[in-house]
Amino acid sequence: MVHDERRLLDEQVRYYQARAAEYDTTTTPAGDLFAPHGDATRAALRAFEPVGDVLELAAGTGQWTRILAEHATTVTAVDASPEMLEINRAKVADPTVRYLVADLFAWKPPQDYDVVFFGFFLSHVPPGHFDAFWSLVARCLRPGGRAFFVDERDHGAWNEDWADRPAGVVHRTLVDGSQHRAVKVLWRPDDLASRLADLGWDASVTGAGPFYWGRASR
Ligand SMILES: C[S@@+](CC[C@H](N)C(=O)[O-])C[C@H]1O[C@@H](n2cnc3c(N)ncnc32)[C@H](O)[C@@H]1O
Repeated sequence: MVHDERRLLDEQVRYYQARAAEYDTTTTPAGDLFAPHGDATRAALRAFEPVGDVLELAAGTGQWTRILAEHATTVTAVDASPEMLEINRAKVADPTVRYLVADLFAWKPPQDYDVVFFGFFLSHVPPGHFDAFWSLVARCLRPGGRAFFVDERDHGAWNEDWADRPAGVVHRTLVDGSQHRAVKVLWRPDDLASRLADLGWDASVTGAGPFYWGRASR
């Protein structure tokens, strides 16, 4: 099936705007079996040391913003959802973090950065926008800059309600019963590393249970 990816991206923005208030409880439920893998990804980010001027793409409610702010001189947190960023601002409460509301697929970075980070966003980048997204990451980085990313890999730990698995389109339902479409592309770590190498990145991607983390530089 051929999908209009721009329309899908707009639907995905609206989905996350509507989901903001329930995001934290649904992503980290009580008794989360995958918590040790989450701890491993956080440890990997701390070991990466995101220092200097750090840009966080699709910052959401701030589960990574807080860690970035521990290391960085400044953090710029961008997201298309003001609702998500309001929760982030209240939770992180750090004056070194600057918040910007923007659609990343139509955004021009106002400056360059030492580090670009994105957590659980690459899986929301549709196949036809993958190369352009990584061009944006490259444009955001200073010479010698580094990218770090975390996401959900191709796994069998839980199921999505697939609308079209090959195209990476899922159905999502919120607690109010509203139904939405979103993008979900579950990369295998080796395939992602090799695709990034094809785009000119020096990249490594490490699996951790249902997640992966990766680092990339030009
Ligand atoms: C799965 S959440 C991840 C949030 C956060 N990084 C985390 O790991 O908890 C995806 C985020 O992407 C944001 N988002 C979706 N589409 C976007 C777009 N086109 N531009 C900017 N942000 C977008 C959503 O608002 C949401 O905060």
